[in-house]
Amino acid sequence: MREFQGIITAKHPVMGDSWLMTFTAPTEVLHAARAGQFVNVLPRERAVYDPLLRRPFSVYGVAPDEGLMTILVRPYGRGGGWIVDRNIGSEIDVMGLLGNRFDIAPRSTHLLMVGGGVGAAPLLMLAREAVARKLSVTYLLGAANAGALLEASEIPGEVEYVVATEDGSAGYHGFVTDLVPDYLQWADQVFACGPGPMFESLRSVVLANRMGKRPSVQVSVERTMACGVGACLGCMVETKRGMKTSCVDGPVFDMDMVQW
Ligand SMILES: Cc1cc2nc3c(=O)[nH]c(=O)nc-3n(C[C@H](O)[C@H](O)[C@H](O)COP(=O)(O)OP(=O)(O)OC[C@H]3O[C@@H](n4cnc5c(N)ncnc54)[C@H](O)[C@@H]3O)c2cc1C
Ligand code: FES
Repeated sequence: MREFQGIITAKHPVMGDSWLMTFTAPTEVLHAARAGQFVNVLPRERAVYDPLLRRPFSVYGVAPDEGLMTILVRPYGRGGGWIVDRNIGSEIDVMGLLGNRFDIAPRSTHLLMVGGGVGAAPLLMLAREAVARKLSVTYLLGAANAGALLEASEIPGEVEYVVATEDGSAGYHGFVTDLVPDYLQWADQVFACGPGPMFESLRSVVLANRMGKRPSVQVSVERTMACGVGACLGCMVETKRGMKTSCVDGPVFDMDMVQW
């Protein structure tokens, strides 16, 4: 883990109100980055201490040959707003890589990804890794409406991309988790990232429809974070093996190990 200054080289609007922010990053960081990991971005100039805390963002993509990393930022508040307001050529203070990663088991060939909102980000990185390993990927993404979905052009062509919208303006009319039962027999593993209510309904759908503990489900849990390095204990997740930090032990956990 290290702190580095990136230079913003590109910004691109996505999902209605969010931005893909691309910046320079050290080669060793780019080569080491894996899906599920995140970076902690300082959402202010260094000399100004408000807002004080860094903000965590999943790695959305890396291009080691070009020296670039991309994150997807939804400007919920001042921190995210400050980041998306940076112009091309601005400096950005980044700490990372942080956290663990999604783990594709050696024997898995069929991977189901279930994303909601900005949970699309780490799953897209995972889909790219899986396609590079010639694995079969179905990527289910849910959003409030068509404009809040990730454009299909962002998804690798080998991936089956299936969308659900709450208002029915694109794809399945309803929650993305309604689609999950159709894929549970096919999938060797499920990977999920999204808001809390999505996890709740994913868990009930999986428990009601799978045989035993297969497929296993890995979830990337979003906790509010302060230090991002395991020091403040502000991001604890209760698991069957005790309390774990989301920033160091996570953010990816086995769904069956989390105390929901
Ligand atoms: C491991 C990890 C990975 C993450 N990856 C991404 C990512 O790839 N892209 C991304 O956009 N965000 C991601 N987040 C969430 C992101 O860190 C927060 O949205 C950000 O810290 C909010 O900072 P802010 O200053 O913009 O908003 P704040 O000023 O902190 O909050 C403003 C308002 O928005 C609400 N809010 C803040 N965060 C969220 C949220 N996640 N969902 C719903 N409401 C929220 C707050 O409750 C508050 O009401 C991730 C979080 C974690 C822990
Ligand atoms: S954010 Fe401080 S311990 Fe995780």
